[in-house]
Amino acid sequence: MKLTLKIWRQKNNKAKGELKTYPIDGIEGDMSFLEMLDVLNEGLINKGEEPVVFDHDCREGICGSCSLQINGEPHGPDRLVTTCQLHMRMFNDGDTIVIEPFRAKAFPVIKDLVVDRSSFDRIQQAGGFISVNTSGNTIDANSIPVNKHDADESFNAATCIGCGACVAACKNASAMLFTSAKVSQFALLPQGRIEATERVLNMVAQMDKEGFGNCTNTGACEIECPKGISLENIARMNREYLSASLEG
Ligand code: SF4
Ligand code: FES
Repeated sequence: MKLTLKIWRQKNNKAKGELKTYPIDGIEGDMSFLEMLDVLNEGLINKGEEPVVFDHDCREGICGSCSLQINGEPHGPDRLVTTCQLHMRMFNDGDTIVIEPFRAKAFPVIKDLVVDRSSFDRIQQAGGFISVNTSGNTIDANSIPVNKHDADESFNAATCIGCGACVAACKNASAMLFTSAKVSQFALLPQGRIEATERVLNMVAQMDKEGFGNCTNTGACEIECPKGISLENIARMNREYLSASLEG
């Protein structure tokens, strides 16, 4: 395939960025989107030009670092896949592909296609954990009964990889889907109930502090989420938040 890439180039956080055009040839349908960018970068390096900077790590859909806005969609046109799992067969010979970083005030651009998503880390640090007494009297987690439905729902919420596509898809740059997945995975388990009140209050407060927008129930986040995290988690977090506020 021959393609025309329009890629966001930005030297650093302060610099003004712009879309630059790169023609590319010899792209196979079986290549992943990141392998296609590797081919581009090899060519740029051979010509003595600066390669395009983009985030990636596992390249198998589990780390959440490969976050690109591809033709206006987070993780591109396929469904339930991350950018590293997106294959070039989703595109046609002669296509123009626009590649940008995830856009949100709380995700400032570091360079080219890489954004700073440490705001997500700070939301996690505000409550995305359980405190366990490891003094020797700890109850074995396997001895606490959990009903199957709650265990499954908790596991589904825990599959959120923190990629940020939900934020990039949202017209308000809301982080409600991410935060609600992290709240839900604990709220559904007995081990998570002990700190449930302070968890939801603290995580929502941190989310607001980071500058994410409000949820207006558009649902774009659920559609673009590579892990199929359900909007039901947002409803659960709202219920948790309301009862925690009343308790507080
Ligand atoms: S909810 Fe989905 S889109 Fe949002 S960070 Fe988690 S995995 Fe990514
Ligand atoms: S590189 Fe890890 S999810 Fe894509």
